Amino acid sequence: MTARILDGAALARQIRSEMGQRAGVLASRGHQPGLAVILVGDDPASSVYVKHKVTDCHEAGIRSILDHLPADTSEAMLLARIHDLNNDPAVHGILVQMPLPPHLNPQRVIEAISPLKDVDCFHVSNVGALMTGAPRFMPCTPYGVMKLLEHAGVPLAGAHAVVVGRSNIVGKPQAMLLLQASATVTICHSRTRDLADHCRRADILVAAVGRAQMITGDMIKPGAVVIDVGMNRVPSGPRAGKLCGDVDFDSAAPVAGAITPVPGGVGPMTRAMLLVNTVEAADRAAGADQNR
Ligand code: GUN
Repeated sequence: MTARILDGAALARQIRSEMGQRAGVLASRGHQPGLAVILVGDDPASSVYVKHKVTDCHEAGIRSILDHLPADTSEAMLLARIHDLNNDPAVHGILVQMPLPPHLNPQRVIEAISPLKDVDCFHVSNVGALMTGAPRFMPCTPYGVMKLLEHAGVPLAGAHAVVVGRSNIVGKPQAMLLLQASATVTICHSRTRDLADHCRRADILVAAVGRAQMITGDMIKPGAVVIDVGMNRVPSGPRAGKLCGDVDFDSAAPVAGAITPVPGGVGPMTRAMLLVNTVEAADRAAGADQNR
């Protein structure tokens, strides 16, 4: 068997175009969606991610504000800036790019963002809403994975989903969304014993560990759907330095039923879902304005 490729880039293109249309309608009614992105310092990877987010907004007709603050910005300054953005009616989404420099407390910073504008879905009240099944937002990467699975027609109810990784950004919310779709969910992590055995029982395997090519073909049930959230560099060999996922694509693809490539799988979906959340927030704000 050779796996069907789940083309995240194509689906993301479609979603970006839909968001462009919705943003146009909102703008014509005087409610152009707006996203504020705050970058503190000059982490090279973060700078690239932020640039992509701003470009995506521009192409979809979403207004973006990029606040690039120096690495030694004080927490008080950053919180004051977030406070101003919380009170700016033209800003519907606020994203503070992580990681922050070590002198800043990420949790305090996240909790300063209005939950109504928390398009990352990192705020504790939004995480709580997600847990109880009444989400205000869904975090971009797990949301993108759910959209990919839905688009591919993968049945989730009763399926065994194994999530490898327990981060607050991906692993935990991913497991929750799969559970809410009635999958039976196992969460594995760096301390899990017999990881390969757990993986081999998965109908749907989501790899979000951040370790290059650690999930190999022998760890995959024949016909399983494999979702690779990883974004790493090949450590050695002829492809050294090239982008790769947490899954060893070459050994996994002949075994899996469907698989996301890296790049071109989950990554573009994450970016697209940020636009979805921003447009959704603007839509709600416009509705609230109308009912005032
Ligand atoms: N750093 C890496 N991924 C993310 C993300 O999804 N949101 C934010 N704010 N920072 C990140």
